[in-house]
Amino acid sequence: MHIYHLGLTNFRNFARLELDLPRGPIVLLGDNGQGKSNLLEAIFFLATTRSPYASADRQLIHWLAWKEQQPFARLTARVEREKGPLRVEIVLKGRPLEEPWTLKEPEGPGVTKRIRLNQIPRRALDALGEFQVVMFCPQDVNLVAGSPSERRRYLDVANSQLDQRYARSLSQLNRVLLQRNSLLRRIREEGASQDQLEFWDKQLIDFGTYVIQQRGRFVAEVGPLANQEHQRLAGGPKNLKVTYLSALGQKEPLGPEDLEFQSLTGRLSAALKRERAREIASGMSLVGPQRDDLQFTVDGVEMTAYGSRGEQRTIALALKLAEAGFFRYQTGDRPVLLLDDVLSELDPARRAHLLAFLPPEQQAFVTATDLSGCPEDFLRQAYIFDVREGQIEMNSKRQPPTGLLR
Ligand SMILES: Nc1ncnc2c1ncn2[C@@H]1O[C@H](COP(=O)(O)OP(=O)(O)O)[C@@H](O)[C@H]1O
Ligand SMILES: [Mg+2]
Repeated sequence: MHIYHLGLTNFRNFARLELDLPRGPIVLLGDNGQGKSNLLEAIFFLATTRSPYASADRQLIHWLAWKEQQPFARLTARVEREKGPLRVEIVLKGRPLEEPWTLKEPEGPGVTKRIRLNQIPRRALDALGEFQVVMFCPQDVNLVAGSPSERRRYLDVANSQLDQRYARSLSQLNRVLLQRNSLLRRIREEGASQDQLEFWDKQLIDFGTYVIQQRGRFVAEVGPLANQEHQRLAGGPKNLKVTYLSALGQKEPLGPEDLEFQSLTGRLSAALKRERAREIASGMSLVGPQRDDLQFTVDGVEMTAYGSRGEQRTIALALKLAEAGFFRYQTGDRPVLLLDDVLSELDPARRAHLLAFLPPEQQAFVTATDLSGCPEDFLRQAYIFDVREGQIEMNSKRQPPTGLLR
């Protein structure tokens, strides 16, 4: 799949942008602070209805737009896919305000989000999975080095992009957890009755089992692919193992053989019974997918604790490449790749491997502040776009010989 037209109005520092895009690798070239990451953010937002960078959607609306009667930002993408054309439109609307950009989260007004797919209004949860993106950025190292919540977020974004039922189950699960946690606190602090827990346990089991099952399947497929990518990146027969640790009471590794729905339901429900006293004592839900984690080992060594920064980065990159491969396998279509500031931090061998992942028919957006880090044979098939102060223009001097632009 590829995006062949992108339109932005008042999105970040893009006051107005209408951009035709080629299929194939695209280098976004520009100094710092010109809008390269903002453009990638826009594409990610169109695919997932979420920003990879912002903590609140209102940050996405152009500062100057807040002075207008009706502050808004509009994003549109026209996408060509194996399963037919797609037009995505997302409109963010805020209320007029003096200077929202001086405010820190969680202060400040919310914004509303309207989504249309092929002109038809959709709820955010029903708009996912229409086209897939995989983003690579320097913070990816935290997939390995960071906290379990970052790894869960990774699993959630990836799975939500493939499966609307996953996205819906997850959102229901989060709602259930809020209620269940507040009940657990009331039982602990006010001696409230435990009768209602049965109800919330059942809901947690219903939605949680699906989330666990899909995460487990994802890891079972993507783990071995990540191992292959990792061997190529690390240039040797090192063995990367990705393990899904599900919080069924204690953190237990879940393999492909454990993913049968009924047996998962049974284990989750047994764990809830077993841990009930502990949950009440702590006033928190301790059992369920909200406590899941991933573990990475290389030749048996645990990498969150013992990996070097470089090793952790290589694992994260391998995982993302594997994810892209898995998306393609699942949808029959190549996802759009977004590479934000990743070239500069790789050594030449890893960089070459990554760029080899970008054949002419793979749409990929690669940000760079200069071309010196890009191998010549990559540049020969890439399109160069100059990004300057929220304006983007195709660089007429350096383009591939074939006119792939539609
Ligand atoms: N809501 C906004 N309205 C206008 N400009 C913004 C907004 N949010 C961020 N910016 C501007 O966008 C610039 C950063 O763009 P970015 O895409 O991160 O740059 P880079 O090209 O280095 O990736 C910042 O300098 C900031 O001034
Ligand atoms: Mg940037």
